[in-house]
Amino acid sequence: MFKTKMTELFGVKHPIMLAGANWITEPKLVSAVCNAGGLAIFATARCTPEETRQNIRQIRELTDKPFGINQILVGPGAKENIDVAIEEKVPVINYALGKPWFIEQVHEYGGKVLGTTALARHAARAEQLGCDALVITGYEAAAHGADATSMVLIPIVASQVKIPLIAAGGFHNGRGLAAALVLGADAISMGTRFMLTKESVLHENFKQLCLKATEQDTLYSTVFDGMPGRALKTKAAEAMMKGGFPLVEAFKGASEIKQMLGLSLWQFIRLSFQMMRADEDSSPLWVQAREAAGVRRHLKSINNGDLEEGILFAGQDIGGINDVPSVEELIERIITEAEDVLEAVRGKRVKV
Ligand SMILES: Cc1cc2nc3c(=O)[nH]c(=O)nc-3n(C[C@H](O)[C@H](O)[C@H](O)COP(=O)(O)O)c2cc1C
Repeated sequence: MFKTKMTELFGVKHPIMLAGANWITEPKLVSAVCNAGGLAIFATARCTPEETRQNIRQIRELTDKPFGINQILVGPGAKENIDVAIEEKVPVINYALGKPWFIEQVHEYGGKVLGTTALARHAARAEQLGCDALVITGYEAAAHGADATSMVLIPIVASQVKIPLIAAGGFHNGRGLAAALVLGADAISMGTRFMLTKESVLHENFKQLCLKATEQDTLYSTVFDGMPGRALKTKAAEAMMKGGFPLVEAFKGASEIKQMLGLSLWQFIRLSFQMMRADEDSSPLWVQAREAAGVRRHLKSINNGDLEEGILFAGQDIGGINDVPSVEELIERIITEAEDVLEAVRGKRVKV
């Protein structure tokens, strides 16, 4: 058992978090992680406000443990989804990109705000703004990170901030948990590893493809959804790296997103400009259109198991994942392994 600043803050048994992952962190997986003693985050980016509310309520039917939602603050529907989460008094509000305006509101009902960043300077700023804890994402991670690896980022951020740190990117086993704790983190966050569990909705074809992948089988590029991100080396991902901008597909996807989130054309355009003003380096309309194309291809992998056309965000740690256990088995295994590894390391010390 580990007692860290993270387990204390969130009132969970283990220093392990399920990272918000669009379309993957569905209520069944979220509640399984919570019930096994971890903290789990439901990604709301795909949801209308009403769907966000329904999912929050569904999670509450499946678990009475703390859980969170994850929302990118500069994307479509961000404010509305955050408002719903606050109305529903979700215990943990996890945000990425943009400036959180809701910290006081969340603290008023006893909730916690968890920032996500891949840059040390943003970590310090989030602490100053009043965030309760931080997820710091290394280059190894699935989807969006920045240029520094977890190995470099964790100790730098740990030396600069006092709030609990949750390390994301490259963690899939007990060795990783032990390493993260030694580097200065208080917990690990995993996306790729939890995607390969019995409770995950990922289509069986892609589960099998992931099991065969090595640590070299991911690609890092802006082609997947407009922001620098890491995806599994599938046929479609490789073709996207070679091809130009998928204009027709982006247009189709953009209309689907607009419809899915119930946005008027005006709202859709306005959100693009909001993204342009956001405090991150991006070209918003470009990003928006690419994101639209990315969503379509992601659904082809997760729901349809389409090995020809699907793309799937995945981290470099995919190379170390060789089975599909239940969430409970996985968490227990990681905790036991981390304890054993730390014990073994202690045994290597000699007094001189
Ligand atoms: C399929 C998939 C989808 C993801 N979607 C999102 C997302 O919508 N928003 C986000 O902030 N991160 C997303 N992530 C990234 C995770 O939040 C997390 O940073 C990452 O999985 C950690 O690295 P790891 O995969 O090595 O554990 C996604 C990850 C995966 C595997």
